[in-house]
Amino acid sequence: MCGLIGIVHKEGNVCEKIHKGLEYLQYRGYDSCGISVMEDGEFYANKQIGPISGLKKNCHSGKIGIGHTRWATHGCISIKNTHPFMHKNLAIVHNGIIENHSEIRDKYPDYHWKTGCDTESILKSTYEHLKEYRNINDEITDHADWNYAFEKMSEELDGSFAVAFMDLSYPDTLFFIRKGLSPLSIAVSDDFGAIASDCLALSDMSDHVIDIENGQYGYVKAGKYEIKPGNINEKRHIIKSPKMSEKSHDTWFAHEFHTQPMVLSNALHKFNSAFTLSDFEKPKFIDILGCGSSYYAGCVGKYWIEKYANIMCRVQMSSEWKDLKGYDRTIALISQSGETADTLAAFGKQLGAHKTVGFVNTLGSSLSRAVDHVVPTFVGQEVSVASTKAMTGQMLSLFLWATKLSGVNKQDELTELFEKMSCLINKLPENTKEVIDICANVDDLFILAKGNLVPIAYEGALKIKELAYVHAEAMSASELKHGPLAMINPDSSQAIIFLAPSSSSLWSKMLSAVEEVHSRGGKVIVISDKPEKFNVNYSVKMPYIEEDLAPFLYILSMQWIAYGLAIRKGNAIDMPRNLAKSVTVE
Ligand code: G6P
Repeated sequence: MCGLIGIVHKEGNVCEKIHKGLEYLQYRGYDSCGISVMEDGEFYANKQIGPISGLKKNCHSGKIGIGHTRWATHGCISIKNTHPFMHKNLAIVHNGIIENHSEIRDKYPDYHWKTGCDTESILKSTYEHLKEYRNINDEITDHADWNYAFEKMSEELDGSFAVAFMDLSYPDTLFFIRKGLSPLSIAVSDDFGAIASDCLALSDMSDHVIDIENGQYGYVKAGKYEIKPGNINEKRHIIKSPKMSEKSHDTWFAHEFHTQPMVLSNALHKFNSAFTLSDFEKPKFIDILGCGSSYYAGCVGKYWIEKYANIMCRVQMSSEWKDLKGYDRTIALISQSGETADTLAAFGKQLGAHKTVGFVNTLGSSLSRAVDHVVPTFVGQEVSVASTKAMTGQMLSLFLWATKLSGVNKQDELTELFEKMSCLINKLPENTKEVIDICANVDDLFILAKGNLVPIAYEGALKIKELAYVHAEAMSASELKHGPLAMINPDSSQAIIFLAPSSSSLWSKMLSAVEEVHSRGGKVIVISDKPEKFNVNYSVKMPYIEEDLAPFLYILSMQWIAYGLAIRKGNAIDMPRNLAKSVTVE
């Protein structure tokens, strides 16, 4: 999984342009990055561990180059395993996974394999097939050597991949291939030819791209391109994200966290004027799919859809999706980026048998192009890897879907909600101080909730893991007595957080659950509008909120606690270790 870009430009200085493109692609991984430029029959590479910001912008003045930002799958994070890889006349960058890479290694036992990456098997396979063709054909026209190599290597390699190549024999041409889910787009003008994993990486150079489809390969150079088989791909206008405003806090996470009431309120206006969800007939059954925070947003959405619209709803992780044959239903796919491979793969599996709706934040993304109906979540670009506003934006759009499907009007309540969110955000730094102190000094955190806050407990635990690298486990407070209660031990380094709004229809049962933990000596923290009703020492005071809207307020407290813990630990906030904003491999 990774981001790749290649540019050939008549004016030269491609290194700087590639660097700029890589900044857009960083959401696909930031374990390491590199650029290779070709000039006078040689490759000049520049690589480094970590994000793009540290990579030299002007490493070389050549006219053709490729760049890559890596999220390690095969092979440790090291310079040796950082793309681009070079072998003799070839240099390549790759996004995806080669599933049979060890077979390819076995096929060429005498070759000195230089990296631990599956990518090297593409390099070797392509090199061998090009050589094969060139050895038996004296005259080569129309890139026939490359066409031959592409056919052969795509037969030989299993998996999903998008690859860009430079070849010393063609100093003005970039070659590319796509097989499977890894997206790839090209842009061409009289002055340049370019290729990238995401059209946004090309948006400073062009307004349009051509998307390469699964199974296609070809080349691009200034003023010319070829795509096979087919070559009938249409041009697509690039939908640029609105310009990012300056961040108001040290980190994008804190900035995005603070903007949530304003962003959601703007999104509501946009929904009200441009919303088309009412175009849907009322489905009999809804399947919701997503990963990570998008999955948890779906889990909250289920409560509203079942409660307001009275429609049976099932939520599954995209990676675990199983079809229920014979059910007439709408499938809602939720994805901030619209590029998550597990979600795209789930979409692929439904084989067009059902109506699909994508709740997507990034218009123009693969998912937004694939589904029958797109519902933009309207929260603007989210930079921090750990999601805040994108997740609450998904919740809002699901809430609106549920209310529209049922004819319920909750506009006034939402306006009031946004005001409460603003007030709470101002108070959280003070209200959570003591609790963050306690959580920073334990090894294990348990987060418990009931009803529509159970998914918020899970999302809170995910935020804590992602940002603070602390073990956090969520569960339904109702399940406590069926096993997990055995874990409660006053001598253990643990704290137990309860999300407990008094408006909950399960409030009285929540009082009992807290008591059961407290009486066994557990270190209990309650997050509640009525903390005084609990016999505990630590709490976070919340405003009163009606039960249905509680997820929007309680997620803020969890986001802030996770952030506070991460700051205490001195962790990288916007780019947590080992993660990526969008996971583009299955
Ligand atoms: C990654 C991100 C998560 C995100 C998930 C799904 O794991 O780190 O924050 O929730 O992908 O991403 P999507 O773009 O499909 O919403």
